[in-house]
Amino acid sequence: MTSRSCLSIILAAGLGTRMKSDLPKVMHEVGGLPLVGHVLKALREAGSERVSVVTGPEMPELEALVYKLASHARCYVQHDRLGTAHAALAAKPALEFEADDVLVLFGDTPLVTPQTISKVRQGLQNGADLVVLGFETEKPFGYGRLLIENGRLVAIREERDASDEERKIRLCNSGIMGFSGKHALSLFEAIGNDNAKGEYYLTDAVEIANERGLKVIAVAGSEVETQGVNTRAQLASCEADFQNRMRITALEKGCSLLAPQTVFFSHDTELESDVVVEQNVVFGLGVKVSQRAKIRAFSHLEGATVGVGSVVGPYARLRPGAVLGADTRVGNFVEVKNATFGAGAKANHLSYIGDASVGSKSNIGAGTITCNYDGYLKHRTEIGAGSFVGSNSTLVAPVKLGNGAFVAAGSTITDDVQRDSMAFGRSRQVVKNGKAKQLREKLQAAKDAKS
Ligand code: UD1
Ligand code: MG
Repeated sequence: MTSRSCLSIILAAGLGTRMKSDLPKVMHEVGGLPLVGHVLKALREAGSERVSVVTGPEMPELEALVYKLASHARCYVQHDRLGTAHAALAAKPALEFEADDVLVLFGDTPLVTPQTISKVRQGLQNGADLVVLGFETEKPFGYGRLLIENGRLVAIREERDASDEERKIRLCNSGIMGFSGKHALSLFEAIGNDNAKGEYYLTDAVEIANERGLKVIAVAGSEVETQGVNTRAQLASCEADFQNRMRITALEKGCSLLAPQTVFFSHDTELESDVVVEQNVVFGLGVKVSQRAKIRAFSHLEGATVGVGSVVGPYARLRPGAVLGADTRVGNFVEVKNATFGAGAKANHLSYIGDASVGSKSNIGAGTITCNYDGYLKHRTEIGAGSFVGSNSTLVAPVKLGNGAFVAAGSTITDDVQRDSMAFGRSRQVVKNGKAKQLREKLQAAKDAKS
């Protein structure tokens, strides 16, 4: 949007005591992505080039996560948790290289959009020295309230410090603030801790900036995207709103969701246009579904790619590494893991296909199992194109079936099958005429003798 330089500071050192968890609060997930990951993603999309994350001293796993998600980020440790202004100052080394815009965001506010971040920066670009992103809510409890006088934002009052009158205010602080780079550090340093909690509140920057005659404004965001996560209930509510956002995105992209409220997405789910998703489908991480594919009811997909025009389910499970080509079929109670299906390949019923490749137009009969694991190592099964595997076969890996191979139903295949060959891995059928009747008569006689 602009050539102005931007430094973003994400505050994430809080313990989140009310989550009652051993995990740092911002590592809890929404849509399969840690809360802080959502903020990093939004910043990347908003074009904020420099990012600092403030973590706690006992959070090496959070630091590792930040570097994994954003290798260009810098982490700073806030050794004592003395409040949000104190946390922002932990990133002082980053602040000393003055940026035009300094954004402060909270790691526990995951649904903020790149557009809203840009709106805050726009406020700075238009000449404000401090921009606060606010939102209206029917449930303001716990949030800092924005005190507006004559159209001007004069202060932010935290819940604990607010009067009864102030607590009625429904306009709240989202925690996202933009500072002009010229003033950010000196404002942070001027903040004291004279309040009910004895903490250094970043929100006090508003009053101080006003005293200095700086231009302070509030911009409005929606409640959905600015909600913070302090409790498990808020985490659940954030997840619900995130799912709704993903559903709307999918519908707008031209996918049909037959019962949108029953379809659950991960943050990275990719559905192309004309995909149809039936009821009660769960997309775990890393799923891509190509055009015109249909995901039928009660299927669970994770780490999987579904080719154009394919049909998955009902009741199918695609696990990581499942790569289905165009026009494939994976039907009810079929599990596919780390396996490729060539175009037109089918496994329609009750199968486990793991660590395998299935050639194009092959048909895997009901009840086929690839025995990929010997208790120590995994082995591959390679099935050529145009093969036919009869029902209830077990393919003991490592094993290969050539193109056009045919496996008789009920076989246990332990040796490779050459191209266009037929394999019988079962004992030959024996029929004894009249034997059933004879047996029945013998057994009846034995029973009669006893009574
Ligand atoms: C904060 C705001 C409040 C706002 C609300 C929005 C302050 C003083 N209050 O309250 O006005 O309405 O967010 O959700 O800013 N953190 C640190 N170090 C600390 C304290 C906090 O890094 O010493 C981090 C936390 O990890 C969290 C963020 O700062 O990501 C906000 O802290 P939190 O304790 O959740 O503040 P709220 O009570 O939610
Ligand atoms: Mg919070």
